[in-house]
Amino acid sequence: MTDFSDRVERVSISGIREVFEAAGDDAINLGLGQPDFPTPDHVREAAIEAIEAGDVDAYTSNKGTRELREAIAAKYDRDNDFAVDPENIVATSGGSEALHLAIEAHVDAGEEVIFPDPGFVSYDALTHIAGGEPNPVSLRDDLTLSPADVEAAITDDTAMFVVNSPANPTGAVQSEADMREFARIAADHDVVCLSDEVYEPFVFDGVHRSPAAFDETGNVVVVNAASKAYSMTGWRLGWVTGTSERIDRMLRVHQYAQACASAPAQYAAEAALSGPQEPVEEMRSAFETRRDVLVDGLEDMGLSVPTPKGAFYAMPEVPDGWTDEVIDRGVVVVPGEAFGDAGAGHARISYAVDVETLKDALEVMGEATAALR
Ligand SMILES: Cc1ncc(COP(=O)(O)O)c(C=O)c1O
Repeated sequence: MTDFSDRVERVSISGIREVFEAAGDDAINLGLGQPDFPTPDHVREAAIEAIEAGDVDAYTSNKGTRELREAIAAKYDRDNDFAVDPENIVATSGGSEALHLAIEAHVDAGEEVIFPDPGFVSYDALTHIAGGEPNPVSLRDDLTLSPADVEAAITDDTAMFVVNSPANPTGAVQSEADMREFARIAADHDVVCLSDEVYEPFVFDGVHRSPAAFDETGNVVVVNAASKAYSMTGWRLGWVTGTSERIDRMLRVHQYAQACASAPAQYAAEAALSGPQEPVEEMRSAFETRRDVLVDGLEDMGLSVPTPKGAFYAMPEVPDGWTDEVIDRGVVVVPGEAFGDAGAGHARISYAVDVETLKDALEVMGEATAALR
């Protein structure tokens, strides 16, 4: 009998896929974690040109092309209030690999990683893969992560805590005051604050701030990606930034696991970051309209839902049996417990579908809710 590693035995395949399979082919899918828009034309064209010019036939530098890293640094100058040196960036195979590098490079066997519960599924799984111990922290009533709760959860064994804003699965956006606190906590306790910012452009109320803007000690590591911002989930291009020492350690993992991110995707992401940003604003504005339709519809059926301020997810509180009832009636939503124990009694609804489809789905959800009363 093969003896598999305990680290990997503790990880299971995400429950989200099973929900899709249970729902049948003509179901309305509100389980999706990706924008329903095409990758912008100028981005596709940049990749085609790079392929035709023969620019993508060889490995790039391990960190990614200099041009891509300069485009990423220019994005921080343009959109954020902190600077990033192109040398302190590693281009990765999606935000997923960037999260993996950050956790692998900073977490020793038995060390704890604090993350939001409910939270994105990778934080728990990647902690196990690194041999660490997950330490999930429940969210506040408005589904944001409380800095005080994070600080209270820190022990001598804590290596890292994860902040994700705008958040999957809740759509919550952390305030500037929270982000300032997260940076302070990371410094005071000398732990890493891993900030997952892949939904950065999709904010409807307030503004996106990164804890890196308040980081005076180099304790914040930022992960981002072209995946959601430019509707490029299939291209697999993300990045991680941090101090040169942290980048050096993350590069060691990346070099042996990946060598470099896909070259065509690097050219595409460079065009996405440095080209026109209107497609991003079009998506943001479409998501905001849909957010309003969804929240109104859920409230009309008597469900309680903190208004999501970003991303493209809502997480209402739902009665027992609601998720199954909705899925049986042909609308895919994801049970909250797929994102952690504290997600129980909630469902994640993605609104990466057009308004008409969303209204059809709301009708079905309304019938399911009435049937349970
Ligand atoms: C919060 C969050 N972080 C990171 C990722 C990973 O994104 P990707 O690997 O597609 O860039 C996702 C994908 O759903 C996500 O929701």
